[in-house]
Amino acid sequence: MTVLLAIETSCDETAVAIVRDGTEVLANVVSSQVEIHAEFGGVVPEVASRAHLDMLEPVLAQALSDAGMTGAAIEAVAATHGPGLIGALLIGVSEAKALALAWDVPYVGVNHMEGHLFATFLERPDLELPLIVLLVSGGHTLIVHLEALGQYTILGSTIDDAAGEAFDKVARYLGLGYPGGPRIDALAKEGDREAIVFPRGMLHDGLDFSFSGMKTSVINYVRKHRDADNADLAAGFQEAVVDVLVTKTMRAAEQVGAKGVCLGGGVAANSRLRERFAEEAGARGLQCLVPDRAFCTDNAAMIAAAGHWRLQKDGPTGLDDGASPNLKLPSGTGAIRR
Ligand code: KG4
Ligand code: ZN
Repeated sequence: MTVLLAIETSCDETAVAIVRDGTEVLANVVSSQVEIHAEFGGVVPEVASRAHLDMLEPVLAQALSDAGMTGAAIEAVAATHGPGLIGALLIGVSEAKALALAWDVPYVGVNHMEGHLFATFLERPDLELPLIVLLVSGGHTLIVHLEALGQYTILGSTIDDAAGEAFDKVARYLGLGYPGGPRIDALAKEGDREAIVFPRGMLHDGLDFSFSGMKTSVINYVRKHRDADNADLAAGFQEAVVDVLVTKTMRAAEQVGAKGVCLGGGVAANSRLRERFAEEAGARGLQCLVPDRAFCTDNAAMIAAAGHWRLQKDGPTGLDDGASPNLKLPSGTGAIRR
């Protein structure tokens, strides 16, 4: 039995969670800075660091209060130590180390992307491996073959923009504001997804993705059709992105003989992606997990889940270990296949 407190500050969410044994969520508090950054049309790193400094103590106090605990009950402390914004990461890492010292418990540094993979097991610890996980966020688009816990092979990734980045850029172009993904998702519900058919980048070509050309085709379309309806544009673009994401995930599952498919990362909150993903998995008789939206976008419960497992497997992280903005997903097999 381990009660672990985890801190996530890699980007624009200040989050603290308390999780027992890697799966039982006792508290999961997330304070989003989205409104602070909206004014700038994107995350401003220095502003993010300062907001984390302001918010971390109240979020921590709220998590302990939600779990009905004091620090005395915490048996280990985890923090995201990469990838992410260096200033933002260091705030969570420094706090976690200070708490570990003060409470005399181990500290464990967690890879943010491994956290997104472990979000799966918060809801479904019973899922059978191997699985294919589609990790789609503002910074990443990865098809990961999860052979065993800690054994990940990246089968596909983006050659240009991440899926979330493409949503954000198209939304900005259409004047929908920031963050773009949720805005396009909401507007697309009012549009016709077949009214404008955008090209599907690299659809028939392996497991890698390309979203930059899809974004450009929206821009070119609007230049030629000034009166185009924003809702139809949003629905058509979303449909094209979702089509590529789902087709390649199912292709990967088929190639490796996976037992199931899972979604992770902020873009996994997208309604149309969730719907198509479940439909296509069902049609193939695959186990399918579309996590609760709270566990798709950045949160600390997923960091606690991964931290719990890493602590058991590798032991504590040294207090002299810092943060790595470009940290890669650890691969148990050592092989990154494409
Ligand atoms: O994983 P995440 O919370 O942060 C990181 O990038 O690590 O993902 C944020 C991304 C943003 O690009 C945002 O626009 C996108 O996820 N996103 C969505 C939706 N909700 C968030 N994209 C499409 N539809 C959504 N409903
Ligand atoms: Zn994330």
